[in-house]
Order: sequence, then C-alpha cells, then structure tokens
Amino acid sequence: MNLILMGLPGAGKGTQADKIVEKYNIPHISTGDMFRSAIKEGTELGKKAKSFMDKGELVPDEVTIGIVKERLSKPDCENGFLLDGFPRTIAQAEALDSLLHELGTKIDYVLHIDVPEEKLVDRLTGRRICPTCGATYHVEFNPPKVDGKCDHDGSDLIQRDDDKPETVKNRLEVNIKQTEPLLDFYRQKGDLIAVNGDQDIDKVFNDITEKLGGSA
Ligand code: AP5
Ligand code: ZN
Repeated sequence: MNLILMGLPGAGKGTQADKIVEKYNIPHISTGDMFRSAIKEGTELGKKAKSFMDKGELVPDEVTIGIVKERLSKPDCENGFLLDGFPRTIAQAEALDSLLHELGTKIDYVLHIDVPEEKLVDRLTGRRICPTCGATYHVEFNPPKVDGKCDHDGSDLIQRDDDKPETVKNRLEVNIKQTEPLLDFYRQKGDLIAVNGDQDIDKVFNDITEKLGGSA
C-alpha cells in the first residue's frame, strides 16, 4: 500500500506514522526526519535545509524532490511506503506522480489529518522528542512516564529547534498557504481521505485503520 500522510505542522503526522508503519509493515519516509538527520550529521544537505527550517520556510522543491526520488527508488519501497510531510507543494506532487509512473506504481490513499488551526500552536510548543530513538511526546497530551525522560531508553527529552514560538507562527502560515491547493489536487484524483485529528491519539489511529480497510 502506497500512502501519503498530510496535515499541518502538529496535526499528528509523525505520531500516526509510527503506528501505521508498524501495523502495515511499510517504510516511513519523512522528509522532515531526513533533513533533521542530515543536519545532525553536518552534511551539505543538512546545512542547506537548516537555513530554511530555522525560519519555518519550506526547503526548495528541487532539493526535496531529489532526496525523495532517491529514497523511493530503494528496494524496500517496492511493497509500499508511507510518505510523511511530502508532497507539500503542487510541484512536489507532480514530480511524485511522474516518478511513481516511471516506477510502475501509484498512490493508493492520501490521508489528511485535520486539526483546527488554533490547536496547533499548543501541540507544537508542548512537543518534546527523544534525541536517541526519535519518539515524540507532549508535555500535556502525551507525557512520558518519568518527567523529561524517554520511556524507551531514558534519554533526556529535547525541544525541536523549529518548535520555538517565534518559528512556529511562520511555519503554520507557510504551510496553511500550501495546503488547500494540494488538497484540491488529490481531491480531484479521488484519492483523498479526511481523518479527524482532533481526538485522542488512539482514536485517530482507529479511524485511519477503519478507513484503510483494517488490513494491509
Ligand atoms: P516536518 O518534520 O515534516 O514537520 P511538520 O510538517 O511541521 O510537522 P511536525 O513534525 O511538526 O508535526 P506532526 O504532524 O508530525 O505532529 P506530531 O505527530 O509530532 O518538517 C519540518 C520542516 O522541514 C518544514 O518546516 C520544512 O522546512 C522542511 N520540510 C519537510 N518536508 C518538506 C517538504 N516536503 N518540502 C519542503 N520543506 C520540507 O504531533 C505534534 C505534537 O502533538 C506532539 O507533541 C504529539 O505528541 C502531539 N499530538 C499528536 N497527536 C495528538 C492528538 N491526537 N491529540 C493531542 N496531542 C497530539
Ligand atoms: Zn528514546
């Protein structure tokens, strides 16, 4: 199954992606995670991406499309994949279509996790992540068992650089502008499935699996 997960920053894409890839046994391809790893490793890609991400801007299409093309061409994507945070522009969506066409496949579903905009600032500023395993928490909505420590490995949780209040505002504005045309693009193709993301994490996941038909 080839899936796209869409939603504004903080809608819960990463949170649901972890559950979806476990259930359906497909690779999780998050452009945000790929950029964050490149930044951590200090590569050229990381340096380039960081200058945009720190301002809450999108990384240029040609850079983003390039890394997704490379990733989707790997053998582990042959039996399906979950794209998280890509495409985010019409140019990216069109590039994805032609790449999948070349690879002889297509998107099955586009899941749009819908959350009212006014809830997103709290979700983002309260998010904490584990620098070791990448697990995501929220100080209020999804707290770890021990304050400030990862449930899996006990690492000290940190805040993402782009979750600082001054960056969050611009990130939301930039993404809101891009989202509507992209939703129209997939609505017209008949691939779009809306999911109410303004409910408990497990309830959102339940709705997703119901809409996907419960099995891989
Ligand atoms: P990316 O990493 O994709 O970030 P994003 O889209 O801003 O989304 P987030 O990761 O912030 O949110 P999420 O929806 O995954 O929410 P989460 O599950 O963590 O991109 C980062 C940057 O990289 C971009 O700004 C851009 O610069 C660049 N980039 C990436 N892709 C690009 C592209 N295609 N083109 C150009 N540039 C690109 O949840 C958020 C919080 O809420 C967590 O604390 C979580 O615990 C909590 N939460 C989750 N679900 C619920 C719930 N149901 N109820 C209550 N709380 C919840
Ligand atoms: Zn951890």
